[in-house]
Amino acid sequence: MGWKRLTIRALLLLLSVGQTWSQYTNATFLAGENIPRNNEQESRDAGPEIEFTYHDHDQMTRYLRAVSARHPSLTALYSIGKSVEGRDLWVMVVSASPYEHMIGKPDVKYVANIHGNEAVGRELLLHLIQYLVTSYESDSYVRWLLDNTRIHLMPSMNPDGYSKSKEGQCNTIQGRNNARQYDLNRNFPDFFKPNPKQPQPETIAVKEWISKIQFVLSGSLHGGALVASYPFDNTPSSIFESYAHTPSVSPDDDVFRHLARIYSNNHAKMSRDVSCQSTFRTFEKGITNGAAWYALTGGMQDYNYLWHGCMEITLEISCCKYPPANELSKYWQDNKQALIKYLAEAHRGAHGFVMDSNGNPVEKAAIRVKGREVTYHTTKYGEFWRILLPGTYRLEVTAEGFLPQEVEFFVIDSHPTLLNVTLHSAKDFPPSGAITRQKLARRPTKNVTSVKEDGAISFPQE
Ligand SMILES: *[C@@H]1O[C@H](CO)[C@@H](O)[C@H](O)[C@H]1NC(C)=O
Ligand SMILES: *[C@@H]1O[C@H](CO)[C@@H](O)[C@H](O)[C@H]1NC(C)=O
Ligand SMILES: *[C@@H]1O[C@H](CO)[C@@H](O)[C@H](O)[C@H]1NC(C)=O
Ligand SMILES: [Zn+2]
Repeated sequence: MGWKRLTIRALLLLLSVGQTWSQYTNATFLAGENIPRNNEQESRDAGPEIEFTYHDHDQMTRYLRAVSARHPSLTALYSIGKSVEGRDLWVMVVSASPYEHMIGKPDVKYVANIHGNEAVGRELLLHLIQYLVTSYESDSYVRWLLDNTRIHLMPSMNPDGYSKSKEGQCNTIQGRNNARQYDLNRNFPDFFKPNPKQPQPETIAVKEWISKIQFVLSGSLHGGALVASYPFDNTPSSIFESYAHTPSVSPDDDVFRHLARIYSNNHAKMSRDVSCQSTFRTFEKGITNGAAWYALTGGMQDYNYLWHGCMEITLEISCCKYPPANELSKYWQDNKQALIKYLAEAHRGAHGFVMDSNGNPVEKAAIRVKGREVTYHTTKYGEFWRILLPGTYRLEVTAEGFLPQEVEFFVIDSHPTLLNVTLHSAKDFPPSGAITRQKLARRPTKNVTSVKEDGAISFPQE
């Protein structure tokens, strides 16, 4: 059933996301077309019963195709581009609405294996896919998560590096970089320092991807330590790379600490100050500011946050970068709860729509929480999300051609706050003295169409 429909939906999606995007995804996202209608054989061979072994690129590709064939209503497989050596950069969406963004509901992501020799995250995401699709019917929490969130999982951002790395190598750098020897987690534009590194295909594809989809929350999976590290990774004051600095505190430090704690607390042992080796430092409660650990230029998490308002943290999930396969099931058990609980944090804080006075969405409106000098932007549907801890805040909303608007709102712990903001056209208020003042005096400068708790989305008890 449904192959034609699936293909049509895939085509519609391609049409709706624009030219540059289709240039990357055309051939590969439509790979679904090539999956034979009867692919029982492949399903039996490659999934969904994935084993705790390492999967090379071809095995991973077969597994992802088999899952998407078996669960067409919960998954969509697409490629955001190719590595230097031509391997697809696969992304699996797992959601009750895999092909279409659910208006008003967040998109989130995990990216693993940006360092090709840090292999645990890569396998964990394959297991996470299986866990989510097979738990949807039976587990009310997973069902709630998938009904209200679109989860994009990229098991490998550096498949070329992975192909050169070796199982059992805990501390080498063989396979860390991409095929041209660039460290992809030093290859993003940087807010604090110029980054002269030549942009690599893998990084270019990711930048394109996150400019097309408004991700609200993200985790980047690494290995070599056991800690959740949060922005900023870079600092204006660093002279030398790779040394510890004073913390480089972001405007959302409270939120990032909270997010990192959610991961470490839900991890089997990350929050217990474990040291990877007797000579290594430990991290209090399993979290650290990135720059306080060591500063770096061109990292992915700072870029996500400062360029796209996507809160990303770096998850170091294994002391050994590429441990023997027989340890994988232990890593899955240690991380499973944390991986799932972290994503639900996209539903914390405030979200809503910015509209004009006719109720049309205002795209690219600038959203700024007072006291937090970082700007988020609305999507083409006028949506915005702002993960915040409980408290009272003021939101400043500005958009070209509209009068600025300020809205006071509060956030509570148990539900997100729904915040619809109406902007009034600046044309109604010509910038000539007397008239403007008169009009302004008659009309409120604030117009909060709705500020209320949204009972629709709540965190179900597990
Ligand atoms: C996209 O796919 C169509 C149909 O398969 C093909 O004709 C076209 O050349 C492809 N474009 C690119 C850029 O790959
Ligand atoms: C807010 O704006 C709408 C039209 O966009 C208007 O109908 C409503 O009366 C305004 N509310 C307040 C409190 O001024
Ligand atoms: C907020 O705006 C959205 C989009 O227009 C609408 O669906 C929703 O009902 C609004 N909510 C409230 C409480 O006004
Ligand atoms: Zn790493």
